[in-house]
Amino acid sequence: MAALPEYLMFRQNLVSQRTTGEGVSLLLGTSPESSGVWHLDFVRGILRGMPNSANLILEGKEMELPVTVGSEGEVGIDISKLRPQTGAITLDPSFANTGACESAITYIDGEQGILRYRGYDIADLAEHASFPEVCHLLIYGRLPKRPEREEFRRRLTRHSLVHEDMKKFFEGFPPSAHPMVILSAMISSLSAYYPEDETQEELDLNIIRLLAKAKTLAAFSYKKSIGQPFMYPQNDRSYLENFLVMMFAVPSEPYHVDQTVRSALNKLLILHADHEQNCSTTTVRTVGSGGANLFASVSAGVSALWGPLHGGANQAVIEMLDLIRNDGANYRKYVDLTKSKDADFKLMGFGHRVYKNFDPRARILKEAADEVLAKLGVDDPLLEIAKRLEEVALADDYFIERKLYPNVDFYSGVLYRAMGIPTDMFTVMFALGRLPGWIAHWMEQRNAPGTRISRPRQIYTGATSRAWVPLDER
Ligand code: CMC
Repeated sequence: MAALPEYLMFRQNLVSQRTTGEGVSLLLGTSPESSGVWHLDFVRGILRGMPNSANLILEGKEMELPVTVGSEGEVGIDISKLRPQTGAITLDPSFANTGACESAITYIDGEQGILRYRGYDIADLAEHASFPEVCHLLIYGRLPKRPEREEFRRRLTRHSLVHEDMKKFFEGFPPSAHPMVILSAMISSLSAYYPEDETQEELDLNIIRLLAKAKTLAAFSYKKSIGQPFMYPQNDRSYLENFLVMMFAVPSEPYHVDQTVRSALNKLLILHADHEQNCSTTTVRTVGSGGANLFASVSAGVSALWGPLHGGANQAVIEMLDLIRNDGANYRKYVDLTKSKDADFKLMGFGHRVYKNFDPRARILKEAADEVLAKLGVDDPLLEIAKRLEEVALADDYFIERKLYPNVDFYSGVLYRAMGIPTDMFTVMFALGRLPGWIAHWMEQRNAPGTRISRPRQIYTGATSRAWVPLDER
């Protein structure tokens, strides 16, 4: 492999050469210690004209690779003809350097802490937009005009009811079932009720159904877990109000939607709505690439989101903050614990594959946490613990050197708690927010010309051919 300093220099060169309009050339050879496996062992940026191609030299043979430059100047070396022409593949476990597609949905600059949906800055959207508007923006590429917005909202409300038979599914789950398993199973089950979409019109209807019914299913899973009757959606309520009613109202008394809670929920869902090729979105695209329908593909995304390194981190953060509080709020001890290779402990809600600067979503949520808790009159000691822990971690060399900052999950849990949402529903809230992103990516891929099934290769490291051994001789 190329030594890290060389690689970093290459990255830096790419950025500076892009701005000066100079080109890129790659030299590849065999690593001396790689026992016959092809590795990138020498990468060098060379200044030469606009980078519309890169040259790869493999065992003395030169190949020209096209270079694609995105609208924000990101450079991608197109290796789609690499294997047919050379027999070699690239090796990039966990895909940290691999672009799987071209996409016009979301732009992230992790070095600068920028996040934009369809060109709009996340801070502007969180401040001014409604969640249904952001759904429209992500899925259809534009902010809806007034009549479009009204029609979109009307349809989202009218399709909130779920088929009565689906209520029976809830009876089969044990009361202890995590709501993420219920959500994933229920979303997949929607494909049993609604036919596959063949035209764009049918797809639009299934998109509405998914956005509208997922929140009903999520609220029902909570009601099931606490033994309360399901609350039906009401068509005179907005998208977010309906969700809050279905979560918190009971048939025996009137329910008043707190506007501070509604507006905090709006912000949270917008901030989670898309994040380009993350683990769950990549899952949705991968499942969709095989031709699976929208509901099946998104259900796979819900499962992918569940893990504690991904969307499950918001639940893990609160559990960690509770642990730290119960252990005497000894921040230093837990920051130090992350450095011990034996402890297998990480600060949940810290670090990100893409952000090497503040996650802009975390900045917004930290401010919102102060404001919302004050407005609701909630005094949650975990907010103070989170802030103190952040302070200690950000001043620590280990975190500074690795550019580890709080991510979206660090403060979201404190907000959900203040809104009365139970801890094991946090990741479900993330999923509800991420729905438009998953849908937008699924649709973008389906409509992209030349989409093929996702099917990575591997470098096989197992046994070479051996003779069958009969049972008695093993
Ligand atoms: N606490 C302590 N050390 C950390 C942390 C952390 N939260 N995150 C990364 N590191 C260290 C890691 O041990 C490694 O150190 P070294 O170079 O000595 O081996 C270095 O930083 C680089 O980390 P990595 O694990 O190679 O980074 P990654 O890009 O593979 O993983 C991550 C990214 C988000 C999975 C990771 O930072 C993490 O596990 N964070 C905690 C879980 C979390 O908050 N996840 C939510 C992510 S945001 C929501 C979403 O998009 O899903």
